[in-house]
Amino acid sequence: MRLIFIGPPGVGKGTQSQNLVEHLSIPHVATGDMLRDAKKQGTELGKLASLHMDHGQLVPDPIVVQIVGERLDRADCQRGCLLDGFPRTIGQAKALDEYLHQQNKDLDLVLTLDVNQEELFRRLLDRSVKEGRVDDTPDTIRKRMRIYQERTSPLLDYYQEKGILRHVDGMGTPTEVFDRIKAIIDDVAKQKGDSV
Ligand code: AP5
Repeated sequence: MRLIFIGPPGVGKGTQSQNLVEHLSIPHVATGDMLRDAKKQGTELGKLASLHMDHGQLVPDPIVVQIVGERLDRADCQRGCLLDGFPRTIGQAKALDEYLHQQNKDLDLVLTLDVNQEELFRRLLDRSVKEGRVDDTPDTIRKRMRIYQERTSPLLDYYQEKGILRHVDGMGTPTEVFDRIKAIIDDVAKQKGDSV
């Protein structure tokens, strides 16, 4: 299965992706994690990415499209993968469509989690105390949310029109949320004739 997780900062994409990749036995392709790894290793890409990430801005499309393309070319992604945090702009979505078209592959499902703004803030501020992520300060969280609304939320219409978008209520415990996701996955797998 080939899936995408879209949603605002703190909605639970990373948390639910961990459960989902285990359930489906597919690789987890998380652009935020890939960029943070590059930053930790001090590569040129990491230095460039951190100029944007640390301030809550998106890393430019050509950079992200290239690293995702290289990742998707690897053997473990040939039978499916979960894209978490990519695409994040219409430009990235079109680049992904083109890549998959060239490979004669399709997207099966786009999941978006719905959580109210107050809860998103609560989760991210809570995480900032536990993990100290540079972009989890109140000002940067607000900026990331604004950028999500402006640049990423238009993707919901983009995938709705393709008929592959499903909304999931992201409120409640991680287990409750995952049960809702599993029900959708099983439904899609049944339509595809796969068993999960
Ligand atoms: P990225 O790492 O993708 O960050 P994000 O989208 O802002 O998402 P978060 O990691 O903050 O939240 P999440 O939805 O994964 O929630 P999580 O499960 O962690 O991207 C970071 C930056 O990288 C971007 O700002 C950008 O600069 C750059 N970047 C990445 N991709 C890019 C792209 N494609 N193009 C350009 N730039 C890109 O949960 C959050 C917290 O809530 C955790 O502490 C968790 O334990 C808790 N939690 C989760 N679920 C629940 C629940 N049900 N109840 C209570 N708490 C919960």
